[in-house]
Amino acid sequence: MNREKAQVDRRVFTDEAVYRAELQQIFARAWLFIAHESQVPNPGDFIRTTMGEDDVVVVRQRDKTINAFLNSCPHRGNRVCMVDAGSKARGFICNYHGWSFGIDGKLRGTDGKVYETDEAFEKSEIGLTPVARIASYKGLVFATFDPNAPDLTDYLGDFTFYLDIMLDNDEGGTEFIGGAIRSEIDCNWKLPAENFVGDILHAFWTHQSGAQAILGGGVDLGKRYDELAFQASVYGHGIETNLDKVGNTRTLGYPELVDYVFDLSERAVERLGELRARAIGAISSATVFPNFSFLPGQNTFRVWHPRGPNKIELVSWTIVNKNAPDHIKELYRKGVMMTFSPGGVFEMDDGENWEYSTRVNHGFVTRQQPLHYALGLGTEDKSRELPGHIHKGSLNDANQRLFYTRWSEFMEHDNWSDLQNGETASPKKTNIAAE
Ligand code: FES
Ligand code: FE
Repeated sequence: MNREKAQVDRRVFTDEAVYRAELQQIFARAWLFIAHESQVPNPGDFIRTTMGEDDVVVVRQRDKTINAFLNSCPHRGNRVCMVDAGSKARGFICNYHGWSFGIDGKLRGTDGKVYETDEAFEKSEIGLTPVARIASYKGLVFATFDPNAPDLTDYLGDFTFYLDIMLDNDEGGTEFIGGAIRSEIDCNWKLPAENFVGDILHAFWTHQSGAQAILGGGVDLGKRYDELAFQASVYGHGIETNLDKVGNTRTLGYPELVDYVFDLSERAVERLGELRARAIGAISSATVFPNFSFLPGQNTFRVWHPRGPNKIELVSWTIVNKNAPDHIKELYRKGVMMTFSPGGVFEMDDGENWEYSTRVNHGFVTRQQPLHYALGLGTEDKSRELPGHIHKGSLNDANQRLFYTRWSEFMEHDNWSDLQNGETASPKKTNIAAE
């Protein structure tokens, strides 16, 4: 990222060496989203995921805590958990030579008597490798491979103020419903991450026809642009939002969901204050650095798992308030499938753009031309009492510039004190109760 010129070098989207450095500098250090607590409610419940390209299994323990381990047998490396999710497992048995592991990751047994008679074999020293740290924020479980990483709340910083729009707008918290949707897109992982961190600009063009199909022929998404809209960014995490309350929710196509958000309003104001209550279903999008994104009001949560410089595996879920009525939950599930699933009207629009943006950047001459990220230079708004770097208007590249600034901080700095005190840190501590 060239901050002065607001340009990004295209090679970050295609270069194999850059990608390998990202796995080391970003994905092996950052806190990464691995599960929602509701996905593993009981001891022995598990899901399989990845952190970067590392296969991981997330398991609810007997003492109700959640732990996560590399999904790789310490014998010859085979995957020990082959399925995407399951419940009430007592352990995992490796297919290759039959070593078995408890849900605590410890080696429980080996096939036959061979190892028992091998005096040098010390069973208690062998097990699945746990992640270095694991922690939850309001139902979302994150993990890091870096034992020196700061606490999760410090990593998220003031961005929790904005996460709460989605996670804490009603009592009872949230849950994921209906399983995970997996798909592959031939694009670099940063393109969707930067899209969700602050690219409402594309929506008014890319998604115009899809929105018309759902909302009716006369609708003009651009006309819904709100003068109070803003972008907020902390440590490269970012949200861009209007304050129209239901702009996103409307595009799910069910008026009952719009009514639900309005019914929620009074309670949401009590919990979040007036301003954030106006964002719970508004035209908005967000990314938690590096690769975890969501859409308030459209209720899709998703991770853009890197699979090489030119490929991602997208895993997405539907999130709902736990105490929402069952028929409302079902409408959210249907609405998300209709819009943000591989066959959904909006997701299909996006995937093609990201694939061509990645593919074309490969060209020898093309990749030497920097990309333009200069929309909204000089729009920082220091007058609003909101946490983070605030920029006026959501039609702005500000959050994307801060996303790539954070990316550079991770790629350049080896210690966390430099990482946490850089340019992307929140410029001020705000009394959030005042909002
Ligand atoms: Fe797992 Fe051999 S690779 S038991
Ligand atoms: Fe989009």
